[in-house]
Amino acid sequence: GKVAVLFGGSSAEREVSLMSGKAVLAALQGAGVDAHAFDPAERDLHILKEEGYDRVFIALHGRGGEDGTVQGALELMGIPYTGSGVMASALSMDKWRTKMVWLANGLPTPRYAILEADTDWDAVVHELGLPIFVKPVHEGSSMGATKVTQAGQLRAAWELAARYDSLVIAEEFISGAELTAPFLNDRALPLVRIVAPDGNYDYQHKYFTDDTRYDCPCGLPEAEEQALQALVMKSARVLGCRGWGRADLILTADGRPYLLEMNTSPGMTGHSLVPMSARVAGMSFEALCLAILAESRL
Ligand code: DAL
Ligand code: MG
Repeated sequence: GKVAVLFGGSSAEREVSLMSGKAVLAALQGAGVDAHAFDPAERDLHILKEEGYDRVFIALHGRGGEDGTVQGALELMGIPYTGSGVMASALSMDKWRTKMVWLANGLPTPRYAILEADTDWDAVVHELGLPIFVKPVHEGSSMGATKVTQAGQLRAAWELAARYDSLVIAEEFISGAELTAPFLNDRALPLVRIVAPDGNYDYQHKYFTDDTRYDCPCGLPEAEEQALQALVMKSARVLGCRGWGRADLILTADGRPYLLEMNTSPGMTGHSLVPMSARVAGMSFEALCLAILAESRL
């Protein structure tokens, strides 16, 4: 049948989604799938039904695509789609409530505070220590995020994040190896270790520069990698994720993991990490796209 690859959209991660979507579209078409581009910012989703699409590959990132809204519309239209359902998508888009669910299940995540205009900034610095990561609660790709190294910068970091979102979270900085852990259905894929040149894996490093080093295999002993993969699968299960996704985490030098966030519609760009990990697992980009599509459901 006909497959719509949804990309673009109107979130702050639109540009990333354009890259992901074009790559997915080309791969599916290359594999002989009758796939077509569909940008929800330009065309209304209800057209999908009229135009006879019977499946959707979601390559949208951020709000209005990764957050359960598009998933809900597709549920109502009865069109199967890739990845997590409404609840897990909405929950995973919310970094604050994701942490609450993880903590309630005994899963490790950095300590945090929600920032507001009347926040006692000194109290937050006292509680979390420095540096502190300040992020919009519902963004991806480091949009609006700042690594605060001096107490005096906290308010400005909140102001920047607040331009993206009415909810802003401050998170304790955990020093350690930056890892990302993709999964495909019930299977964890190899971990990727990210080594940004200056320790700041930000938007530029994520998509536009080539000076970040990615290690996959990640270099950990097998048993340790497997333990982290089990943790990641549990972190996905308690959020209700399905199909595919990618958890980001930090591993301290003394072996303590901290879950940072869950991405339910991870990047599929030339710089992205799920495709890199899949390749190490013996899966081409094309095979990865087909496997994700094969699991599309309502
Ligand atoms: N939010 C970006 C697309 C990612 O997690 O890959
Ligand atoms: Mg993210």
